[in-house]
Amino acid sequence: MDTSGRRTVWDTTEVADDFVLWDDTVGWLWGYPFVFEQLRLAQPDVRVLVDVGCGPGKVARRAAEDHGLQVHAVDISPRMLALAAARHGQPRITFHQAFGWDLSFLDHASADAVMSCFVLVCIARREQAEAMAAEAHRVLRPGGRFAVLNAHPSHVGVTFDSFQIGRPGGTYRAGDQIPVRLRRTDGAWVDIVDTYWPAESYHEMLSHAGFARVWQTVPLPADVRRRHGAGATAPERWATERTTPPFLLVVGER
Ligand SMILES: C[S@@+](CC[C@H](N)C(=O)[O-])C[C@H]1O[C@@H](n2cnc3c(N)ncnc32)[C@H](O)[C@@H]1O
Repeated sequence: MDTSGRRTVWDTTEVADDFVLWDDTVGWLWGYPFVFEQLRLAQPDVRVLVDVGCGPGKVARRAAEDHGLQVHAVDISPRMLALAAARHGQPRITFHQAFGWDLSFLDHASADAVMSCFVLVCIARREQAEAMAAEAHRVLRPGGRFAVLNAHPSHVGVTFDSFQIGRPGGTYRAGDQIPVRLRRTDGAWVDIVDTYWPAESYHEMLSHAGFARVWQTVPLPADVRRRHGAGATAPERWATERTTPPFLLVVGER
């Protein structure tokens, strides 16, 4: 695990090239579909989605194709955006290089849903994370939702199928740096350094941004089986996830 203590700088080519190799099966089973569900992407009144910190663009593309949405995919990393456009670009997606706290290319109340998956943990300062939530609130129409997906902050030191946050027995406070390991599809583990936010920090960020209602949901094995079928949580691969839910989803409604 990385012990250099330096937060990962996301807008570099090396970090982008590593991240696209992350084995994201855990995300597709236990995370992203529940973001789509909470954002009600299947509802006819949801037409415009903003993906803040879109990374390689696969989640934006799935949302655009499965639900016929217009998607604004935003990232600070030019390399990540280039990879996203090459691999997952399609006419319904517009890519923007921008900080999540400055979506000035979007009008007030112009979006029906905003998501930010594994991004607030990349933000070093509380006021920046709050500014990002405030910007999501600004671009959402009344009734629109902002969904924030991250590794569950209560499960520090647990080795999941393809990631681990923190060291076993480690204790972290809001805003601390935290070592994170990601397993690539070639089996190699990559070390990065994120920011630790406990569940209450996410709640406060969204509440301070003005969201009228804020709640959290933790996808459980029964939810995964409901969406993906009875065999989706096979113990051979998902023994840890079956007892310790990997992700926390915090949602705000404007
Ligand atoms: C861990 S990746 C997640 C990518 C994608 N959401 C996914 O689930 O595959 C985090 C992404 O957030 C981007 N990011 C980090 N800080 C950002 C900021 N302040 N504004 C916009 N994007 C940011 C990084 O460049 C990176 O692509």
